[in-house]
Amino acid sequence: NTAAGLKAAAASDVDQITGHRRMRRTRIAEWSRRLTRETRLTVDDLIWPIFIIPGTNVLEPIDAMPGVSRMSVDKAVEAAKMAADLGIPALATFPNVEMEHRDQTGSYALEADNLINRATRAIKKEVPQIGIITDVALDPFTDHGHDGVLRNGEIVNDETVRIIAAAAVHQADAGADIIAPSDMMDGRIGAIRQALDAAGHQSVGIMSYATKFASALYGPYREAIGTSGLLKGDKRTYYLDPANATEAIRDAGLDVEEGADMLMVKPGLTYLDICRALKDTYGLPVFAYQVSGEYSMVKAGAAAGYIDGERVMMEKLLAFKRAGCDGVLTYFAPEAARQLAKGGW
Ligand code: PBG
Repeated sequence: NTAAGLKAAAASDVDQITGHRRMRRTRIAEWSRRLTRETRLTVDDLIWPIFIIPGTNVLEPIDAMPGVSRMSVDKAVEAAKMAADLGIPALATFPNVEMEHRDQTGSYALEADNLINRATRAIKKEVPQIGIITDVALDPFTDHGHDGVLRNGEIVNDETVRIIAAAAVHQADAGADIIAPSDMMDGRIGAIRQALDAAGHQSVGIMSYATKFASALYGPYREAIGTSGLLKGDKRTYYLDPANATEAIRDAGLDVEEGADMLMVKPGLTYLDICRALKDTYGLPVFAYQVSGEYSMVKAGAAAGYIDGERVMMEKLLAFKRAGCDGVLTYFAPEAARQLAKGGW
């Protein structure tokens, strides 16, 4: 019965068991939780990925990413202003180009005045204080949706690297601050560094998508840039196997040797072990890309009433900091910046 149970329990002295070590003391009050908090998320940690489309005054909601729209360049400039006002340090830009600009080798990537470079120029002109990170993979420009040149069913490495390195120079000419190759070809970091330096872009940095996994979490992004219907097969012959951590660390090591300034882990939450390992192994700035699927799952869960979307968003973003990341590429950036400005996180 209850009384006997309590009496027996009283005989076990908790202080004797814990040796007076009481972990809960620091958790009792909010002031003390604040004082002892080890990791913090701030607006300085946020990079906002945005999608650019042709035209003017166009905002096109993306079905698979509630709250995210493709924007024409003029709208992207407005968005950049808003982001700068919120204190977001940098944008990452991704184009959705017309089908007529997509071909076997992604040749539109080599047009100096293509959509992505026009967006960079326009944003740099109006909002010079915000950093611009451009992706150089070929998938927005190929008619098969792969990140490189497709020949006889194979994504050809070296030819792709040469195209990407040349595209990177155009992006830097347009004003990109950081080039972020997301294609996972071998040798691309070194080739991009050489090409940038030869073109006088010594100050343009490289954020390598060093460990990019063949993930199912990119689904909504492919709708966003219009590649979901195009992609034949999958990207497992060039992206990392989600099962492989050691290989991921070796792969990132080559990028470090070839001159990467920053490393990225992608997707984010399912690869926190890799974030920690890269930070501890190389000491370079490490960024996680909280990809489209990660974003949309939170939105869907919140819309269904299963989770508190705002709190889950903040908890997930904080997890990247705890795992050693210096920042996060996240579609939540403006929303998170607003929450952080309100305080209480
Ligand atoms: C490919 C690329 C991908 C993403 C950005 N660039 C992956 C892919 O389509 O295979 C995904 C971003 C996201 O899911 O948010 N170069």
